[in-house]
Amino acid sequence: MTAAYDAIAEWYDRTIRERALLANDTVINSAFFALLGDIAEQRICDLACGQGNLARQVAQRGAQVVGVDVSQKLLDIARCDEQAEPLGIRYYHGDAQALPTLSEEPFDGVYCNMALMDIPDLAATLHGVARLLHPGGWFIAAITHPCFQIPPGQSYFQEGFWRSDNPNGVRGQVGANHRTLATYLNALASVGLLLEQTAEPALSDRVTPPVLLIRCRKG
Ligand SMILES: C[S@@+](CC[C@H](N)C(=O)[O-])C[C@H]1O[C@@H](n2cnc3c(N)ncnc32)[C@H](O)[C@@H]1O
Repeated sequence: MTAAYDAIAEWYDRTIRERALLANDTVINSAFFALLGDIAEQRICDLACGQGNLARQVAQRGAQVVGVDVSQKLLDIARCDEQAEPLGIRYYHGDAQALPTLSEEPFDGVYCNMALMDIPDLAATLHGVARLLHPGGWFIAAITHPCFQIPPGQSYFQEGFWRSDNPNGVRGQVGANHRTLATYLNALASVGLLLEQTAEPALSDRVTPPVLLIRCRKG
């Protein structure tokens, strides 16, 4: 399959590194780690890990991390960082919609940060997540908020691929799949991922939350 992020890998990597220093990303990052809790010694899969920025932060908290992504170019950057400063992270090339069997399965937890919108087949992806987890394992997804980050002028109920009109942003360059909140929650429930907690980090310069975080447990 084609990997949209291969075409923007260097730009995306630079953007993520720069944004990590900004207040808004710090707030969202804190919300993610609050949902994550204590993960020392846990075996964790970062699904759609990109260039491994978050995988490295999770590994630094004492977890054994495996990253999977479809973009070879982002994985090259991730492996380069791992080589420069080893944290024991293993990276695999793979499509979240048809995950290869990973030798590290089953995992204590899986997270997918800001990527479910990039992936067309949500049901297949969540089926794969459920397979990766042992019973009682956790899943955290951070997504662009489905109620507020929607195609301008379009009905919330109209699902499908769209591209933001900001050519300098991620969603202007690679687009996103809009789904309703109900679609996300029902898709999670249908593979036995039961809602435990959510978070909508509030940013000082926004009147609505741009990101929704969801924590589930495999029943
Ligand atoms: C917005 S980036 C997020 C990357 C990373 N999780 C982060 O927090 O920076 C979306 C990621 O999803 C990956 N991706 C898109 N479709 C995928 C698929 N079908 N399987 C695996 N990864 C995919 C992209 O290559 C990209 O790395």
